[in-house]
Amino acid sequence: MSEPKKLFIKTYGCQMNVYDSERMAEAMGAEGYVTTEVVEDADMVLLNTCHIREKASEKLFSDLGRLRPLKDARPDLKIGVAGCVAQAEGAEIQRRMPLVDIVVGPQAYHRLPALVRAKGPQVDTDFPPEDKFDHLPERRALRGPTAFLTVQEGCDKFCAFCVVPYTRGAEVSRPVARILSEARDLVSRGVREITLLGQNVNGYHGEGVGGAWTLGRLIRALADVDGLDRIRYMTSHPNDMDDDLIAAHGDVPQLMPYLHLPVQSGSDAVLKAMNRKHTRDQYLRLIDRFRSVRPDLLLSSDFIVGFPGESDADFFDTLDLIRQVGFGQAFTFKYSARPGTPAAEKAPVEAAVADERLQVLQTLITEQQRAGQQAMVGRDVGVLYEKSGRQPGQMVGKSDHLHAVHVDDPVGKVGELVRVRVLASGSNSLSAVRIS
Ligand code: SAH
Ligand code: SF4
Ligand code: F3S
Repeated sequence: MSEPKKLFIKTYGCQMNVYDSERMAEAMGAEGYVTTEVVEDADMVLLNTCHIREKASEKLFSDLGRLRPLKDARPDLKIGVAGCVAQAEGAEIQRRMPLVDIVVGPQAYHRLPALVRAKGPQVDTDFPPEDKFDHLPERRALRGPTAFLTVQEGCDKFCAFCVVPYTRGAEVSRPVARILSEARDLVSRGVREITLLGQNVNGYHGEGVGGAWTLGRLIRALADVDGLDRIRYMTSHPNDMDDDLIAAHGDVPQLMPYLHLPVQSGSDAVLKAMNRKHTRDQYLRLIDRFRSVRPDLLLSSDFIVGFPGESDADFFDTLDLIRQVGFGQAFTFKYSARPGTPAAEKAPVEAAVADERLQVLQTLITEQQRAGQQAMVGRDVGVLYEKSGRQPGQMVGKSDHLHAVHVDDPVGKVGELVRVRVLASGSNSLSAVRIS
């Protein structure tokens, strides 16, 4: 038998891309490819790209430049570009970097095997009418006891700064039956925690028994899957929250006490200019509703500083919102003008000012994150072991609140869900001992 061909995949960007990379690996697996971590060994290199900020996009071209010597030495090495830069720039990528054989968008990657078999440069950035998930092989590329499961794709929100509606297309939800069967299949392969993914996951409206289901209803059905111990979801939008999803946080024990709910800014003027379509107050009231059903909910968010027109007063409003809410963690970004988006037409905030705001914001978020971790010390929490730690006798996993936890546990095994007592809080993780 000949050696299997080897595929190297590099994933940039969000969790949806991580999921897509796994599915592309599975699609190529059906063609006889196995994955490799060593780029020099690869017969095919696939870069699954992100377009969200300028820096993320430019990373692709520097990485392609670094692949040139490999391609020169082995002209039969296939190089593919997938993901959101592929969708946004299409054939332009090959004009700029002729070493690229294949450009494939996020809605067309079920056709990747055919593109690889074809001769000459290939570009496929269609939004084909068929559902790509119907044309993909079974899940195989699992990362242990946790898995991502995309349930919704695309975005109709058109925030003034964001490329996602253009690269991922309109909001589409996968049918309930397919999601449940993928979840059961994952659980039968040892998965105990599933994170439901979507660019606007709480806008989920997939076809199910009796019509369109909401995310809350889907979560309740998943909670009935035997062996699925933990459910999470991301990313959600404040405007798509409904009573049932909020209630689920109070009455579905498998739904973990963690919510990533991006707000971007605490200033009404900036929120309006961003086209977020909600006010600061509406966000704060929403948080209150979540906390009334689940007081220990850990909140996470995304923030952009330096959005065009953001004044000092607007920025102070953001800091004030953060102080009011108290986040367990958050992602902070400096605004990046993206070609084709409405905000890119406006005059930017001075770079030095935006840099300073980012610093101040990060300092505040770090303080809150530390305080949130410190508050866990002495408490008993659930941890799902994902791997062994660097120290002997140590296991590493995530708590219910998604804190990374190092646990002293010489008999622990990957995939075990255990109770631990938190002993100390480090800069980015907790340490604990097993109590069950
Ligand atoms: N659908 C999700 C987020 C998708 S992108 C949502 O609406 O929340 C992830 C984050 O990247 C966004 O929440 C935003 O904070 C940030 N982001 C998006 N476009 C950006 C831009 N042009 N510049 C800086 N940050 C951006
Ligand atoms: Fe982008 Fe806004 Fe859609 Fe999120 S909701 S993906 S930030 S357009
Ligand atoms: Fe990036 Fe596309 Fe995700 S732009 S953040 S990879 S949806």
